[in-house]
Amino acid sequence: MSVPVPTPALAGAVVLVTGANGGIGSAFVAEALARGAVKVYATARTPRTWDDERIVPLALDILDPASVAAAVAAAPDVTVLINNAGMLPPTASFLELSADDLRATMETNFVAPVLLATAFAPVLTSHPMSVLVDMHSVASWYAFGGVYSASKAALWSATNSLRLELAPKGTHVVGVHVGYVDTAMAAGVEGPKLSPADLVRQVFDTVEAGGYEVIADEFTASVRAALAAPVEALYPELRA
Ligand SMILES: NC(=O)c1ccc[n+]([C@@H]2O[C@H](COP(=O)([O-])OP(=O)(O)OC[C@H]3O[C@@H](n4cnc5c(N)ncnc54)[C@H](OP(=O)(O)O)[C@@H]3O)[C@@H](O)[C@H]2O)c1
Repeated sequence: MSVPVPTPALAGAVVLVTGANGGIGSAFVAEALARGAVKVYATARTPRTWDDERIVPLALDILDPASVAAAVAAAPDVTVLINNAGMLPPTASFLELSADDLRATMETNFVAPVLLATAFAPVLTSHPMSVLVDMHSVASWYAFGGVYSASKAALWSATNSLRLELAPKGTHVVGVHVGYVDTAMAAGVEGPKLSPADLVRQVFDTVEAGGYEVIADEFTASVRAALAAPVEALYPELRA
């Protein structure tokens, strides 16, 4: 008879969400509570007030090392860390992008989430079971976003490395890939968008099933499948 492998649960969890004031961040806060989290640290550069005593607003600028250290000190009981905060650069063109915007995007979407994960690693691994969720994008696999894609590709790679390092210490690492989601970040985009609530349900379903990767929509699934083919499969314009 095989012994069932325990999987992480949101019930009883203490969750920290970065960028909690944003579209997907707010959905993470709500869904964590709906699934029985006992406390959610809703972090933001400018924390808002929340109408629920289980939600603890906490100041956190992920680019500021002092702010990160203060958040680790203020939230020593976190069992689920959600690296959600991110930014969109002013252009998808590398040829038009300034050096400052290139660096700012890589810092916000790649360097800062990795440093936050490493700063919270001792907290997470002090529990018998814990979770790290990293918000990537379909852009990790599809280079339509210039430095945004590059930053999400780098974060995807870091997530894979962190998963290998943290698994033996009891921290389960989940990466999230999704096309457009109906938030302020995608306000300028036409076409189908997933609702933040739908996305977050998929993420927590994956966490609670012990899965490693969320591929949240058909477009993202088709892009991932095309990675196995020659590069023209993903970028047919190269055949012209
Ligand atoms: N929307 C989409 O189509 C889509 C698709 C794939 C992946 N994603 C990813 O999903 C995540 C959430 O995005 P969203 O769609 O919810 O966008 P959003 O509504 O614009 O939220 C982004 C959040 O990130 C926060 N943030 C940015 N820089 C920060 C910093 N230095 N420190 C702390 N917080 C910071 C913002 O805080 P402020 O409120 O202070 O500005 C904002 O609350 C991002 O990582 C994004 O790349 C989004």
